[in-house]
Amino acid sequence: MTTIEAPSNAGSGTSDRDTVRLVEEHDLAALEVLDKEVFQDLAYSKHYLRTFYNLFRKTWFVVDRDGDLAGYALIGPDSDNREAWLLGLAVSERHQGHGLGRKLMRTAVDTMKDLGVADGFITVRPDNEAAFHLYESFGFLQDGEEREDYYGNGERRKVLRHSFEVDARPGGSGDAGA
Ligand SMILES: CC(C)(COP(=O)(O)OP(=O)(O)OC[C@H]1O[C@@H](n2cnc3c(N)ncnc32)[C@H](O)[C@@H]1OP(=O)(O)O)[C@@H](O)C(=O)NCCC(=O)NCCS
Repeated sequence: MTTIEAPSNAGSGTSDRDTVRLVEEHDLAALEVLDKEVFQDLAYSKHYLRTFYNLFRKTWFVVDRDGDLAGYALIGPDSDNREAWLLGLAVSERHQGHGLGRKLMRTAVDTMKDLGVADGFITVRPDNEAAFHLYESFGFLQDGEEREDYYGNGERRKVLRHSFEVDARPGGSGDAGA
C-alpha cells in the first residue's frame, strides 16, 4: 500500500509561516467556513466534508499560515489509483496571491505521482482564469468540449486532464508548475 507523506516546506517559495499537512478531524469546522467563504452556495456541505474525510483523509492536504487554516487541496483517487480527481482547491481570500495555491497544487500533483496515477482530472468554471492558469501551468489541459450543466446547477465546466504516463516517457511533457 502506498503511504503518502505530508510534504515539507523546503523549496516551496512560500515562507516558514506556512505548513502543509494532512487534514485532521478537528479541521472540518474551519474547512466548512473556508469553503463557504470561497465557493458560497456551491460550497461543500458538512455532510460532504465528513464523507470526504472518511474516504480521502490520506490525500487531503491543508495549509496552515500562522495557525490559520488558509487553504486546502483535496484529491480523490479511484479504487486502484489509476485516476484521481482534484475535488477541491481553495485558498482563503485573505491569503490569496501569496503562493499558497501553487504550493497546494504542487502537493496535489506530487501526491498523484506518488500514488502512480495515470490520469489526473480537475473541473473548472470557464470564467475562473486564475485557477485555469494555475492548473495549466501544472500540465492540466482541457479534455474535450466544455460540459453543460456538469454538476446539475446550470453551470458549464471545463474538464481538465493530465496524463502522467505521457510525462513518464522519455521526452514527456513534464509539469512546469514547480
Ligand atoms: C485559485 C486559487 C486556489 C489560487 O490560490 P492563490 O494562493 O491565490 O494562488 P497563488 O498565489 O499560488 O498563485 C497561483 C497562480 O494564480 C494566479 N492568480 C492568483 N490569483 C489570481 C487572480 N485573481 N487573477 C489572475 N490570476 C491569479 C497567479 O498569477 C499565479 O500564477 P503565477 O504563479 O504564474 O503568477 C485561489 O484564487 C482560490 O481559492 N480561488 C477561489 C476558489 C477557486 O476558484 N478554486 C478553484 C476551483 S476549480
